[in-house]
Amino acid sequence: MRKLHVDLGKNSYDIIFERGLLKDVGKYIKRDGKKLCVLTDDNVAKLYADDVVSSLSKAGYIVSLCVLPHGEKTKSFDILPKIYSKLLEEKITRKDALVALGGGVIGDLCGFVAATYLRGIGFVQIPTSLLAQVDSSIGGKVAVDLPEGKNLVGAFYQPETVLIDVDALGTLTDAFFTDGMAEVIKYGCIKDAELFDKLEKCAGKQGLVPVLDEVIYRCCDIKREVVEKDEKDKGDRMLLNFGHTYGHALEKYYKFEKLSHGNAVAIGMYEVCRRAEARGLTQKGTAERIAAVCAMYGLPSEDDAPVKEVVKGVVNDKKNMGDKLVAVLLDRIGESYLYPTTAEFFD
Ligand code: GLY
Repeated sequence: MRKLHVDLGKNSYDIIFERGLLKDVGKYIKRDGKKLCVLTDDNVAKLYADDVVSSLSKAGYIVSLCVLPHGEKTKSFDILPKIYSKLLEEKITRKDALVALGGGVIGDLCGFVAATYLRGIGFVQIPTSLLAQVDSSIGGKVAVDLPEGKNLVGAFYQPETVLIDVDALGTLTDAFFTDGMAEVIKYGCIKDAELFDKLEKCAGKQGLVPVLDEVIYRCCDIKREVVEKDEKDKGDRMLLNFGHTYGHALEKYYKFEKLSHGNAVAIGMYEVCRRAEARGLTQKGTAERIAAVCAMYGLPSEDDAPVKEVVKGVVNDKKNMGDKLVAVLLDRIGESYLYPTTAEFFD
């Protein structure tokens, strides 16, 4: 077992890494409240709900299960009353907790429910996708979507613990694995040239599998460090948005239908880097290295969407209200900085 401690004062918690822990989660959740409600989706439930519920029951908890449809549509504001009603029906009190068993959609939604139900109850993150294991389960950004856009209603609300079982990734489709790789590559770009080199040397999923535990641990450690410095996203945490400003705008341009988040972020990283290089703000050759490593893991770096149209979405992003925006740029691979600019940067 390996552990990282996220030091956020009274909101501190551990991230625990152990292969096979999904079968034995009762061992890792130690709390006074008697009841736990496991929130998951129908795909993940088929694979892991029985093990998780039975392990938690054996550990002495009274466990209920709330299974939701898989996919981004589930993370909507409108689904909330149904979940709150289920929690009331199960008589979940402030002493009890929720368990988020799934990918980013379940983690964000469950965290938002935990933050708001009875003015806040505890929750545990058990991320089962690569993206959730390296990014969304850590740091307490929880949210639901509105018809106007993704993550528009949310909070900073930290979990009590994060339990990571890398074995869970064995059941992920290649497309989901690839999607998470965009965030892994991002960590190398913004904070860790050695990690980036390793991803280049592994040259694809097959080469990465033998060192996957180490790579996931390193990504979580980077996220831990960034979140500890800037929990509320006012400075350093914004570096985690490398490639995301253009990426989000592209996702939005396609009405969240054509490009997955990871694919959009990969294109965003290349597009912002290419422009920064042209302005002498990034070491030459960086964008091409990013495009090459993205290709190794099945990620695109370019798209045919008309840039001017896409950029209209940049200025309406929740992080960039008005025409000003803060671009995340690389000085070189492994070193990033914030660069206040305007949407014209992408012209
Ligand atoms: N996923 C970006 C952040 O947690 O800040």
